[in-house]
Amino acid sequence: MKIDIPTERNHFLSRLNRDFTVSSSDARNIVSHFHRDMERGLRGKRSSLAMLPSFVGRPRGNEKGKFIALDLGGTNCRVLEVDLDGRRTASITAASRFAIPREVMRGDGTWLFDFLAGCLLSFFQELPVDKRREQVLAFTFSFPLAQRSIASGTLIRWTKRFKTSGVEGSDVAVLLSEAMERRGIGFIRLAALTNDTVGTLLAGCYADPACDMGVILGTGTNACYLERSARIHRAGLASRPGEMIVNLEWGNFNRLKTNRYDDALDAASLNPGWQRLEKMVSALHLGEITRLVIREMMEQGLLFREAGQSVFSEPYGLTAEDLSLLALDRKAFFTRACLADAAETDRDAVFEIGRLVTDRSARIAGAAIAAVLTWMDPDLKAGHTVAVDGSLFEKYPGYQARIMDALGSLRGEGAAEIKLVLTRDGSGIGSAIAGAVAAAAKR
Ligand code: GLC
Repeated sequence: MKIDIPTERNHFLSRLNRDFTVSSSDARNIVSHFHRDMERGLRGKRSSLAMLPSFVGRPRGNEKGKFIALDLGGTNCRVLEVDLDGRRTASITAASRFAIPREVMRGDGTWLFDFLAGCLLSFFQELPVDKRREQVLAFTFSFPLAQRSIASGTLIRWTKRFKTSGVEGSDVAVLLSEAMERRGIGFIRLAALTNDTVGTLLAGCYADPACDMGVILGTGTNACYLERSARIHRAGLASRPGEMIVNLEWGNFNRLKTNRYDDALDAASLNPGWQRLEKMVSALHLGEITRLVIREMMEQGLLFREAGQSVFSEPYGLTAEDLSLLALDRKAFFTRACLADAAETDRDAVFEIGRLVTDRSARIAGAAIAAVLTWMDPDLKAGHTVAVDGSLFEKYPGYQARIMDALGSLRGEGAAEIKLVLTRDGSGIGSAIAGAVAAAAKR
């Protein structure tokens, strides 16, 4: 039997629309499930949100001096020298970036920490610092850490593309210090260990005291916020006065309406069952979800019957940067994919799929931000500034506006202003601020 391609394709696309839509009631459900899991996590009960105390609170804004930050993110490692002027301005005075080789991400833990110490060593070879004076180092480790102090923390489990052996369950501050010893960089003292979201919040808050939430929307996704210590019923913190930043590890939130592409991606991943929100929202996975949909349409004979198709055959061959290009300059995208001659209707369908996948990502992110803000301030009576960093937020056309839309639809009458502020390099700058806070506390 001959299939009527235009009709079948339209059916397929309308079903897809339903599969990827986050309705207002879905968004409200996300908010209430977030609140439930935040509450459980803060009590140390089983929850998809780990709610990890960071042992650092709001900076004063008068922290001052030069600090070194080592920032291990999703794909790169950076070493920065950060200058804090003591009057709410932080600047990067030196920086080096190193790509992390795949063998290092998937190899033995000792390699990873030797690699990181090597990055520091090569940075110090370039930078004229007085090596006789102790240098304070802050380490941004963008993975879930169980901390008992600001300068120590055990890796709970790897996320993103990392699967280095022998690190889960170990104190990464100890592993880094040992590697620095092996490399002979004894003049460095590790003073603070922070998650990248915590760094981003600290950087946002150093510049603007109204900032009380940090978000990463990049290779991975996660958030943190300022919590009253009295609400953190863990590790004896509830009896402490004041506030502390709590890292939600929201990438692992698992109460979302998933579809079969999400389930296929999860099943083939390094960590099936974990990081379900991250797999639907972050830059690392958006291209792959889009590719899985395109593949299915191709298998059903609904797309690219004539044109070359190899670009969609490789898992993770389509990236979030490709999707940005598709949204910004369709012609350039299809030329690069060797599909410039494909039928217009095929190109329209690919464009639509990319739009649905990224739209869903922004809507989930918007609902998650609303959940955290309303946890802190149920009626949103006060203004809030959210410091955000990450390639998706910074570079994907229209992404920020979609988050604001999603937030707007969840805000009640009379809610005060919510500002999302791009906080570039926040993870490294903020970790230097944590280093300054920790160094001051020691004095
Ligand atoms: C992953 C990590 C988390 C980090 C986020 C953004 O979700 O588990 O700790 O903050 O990526 O880099």
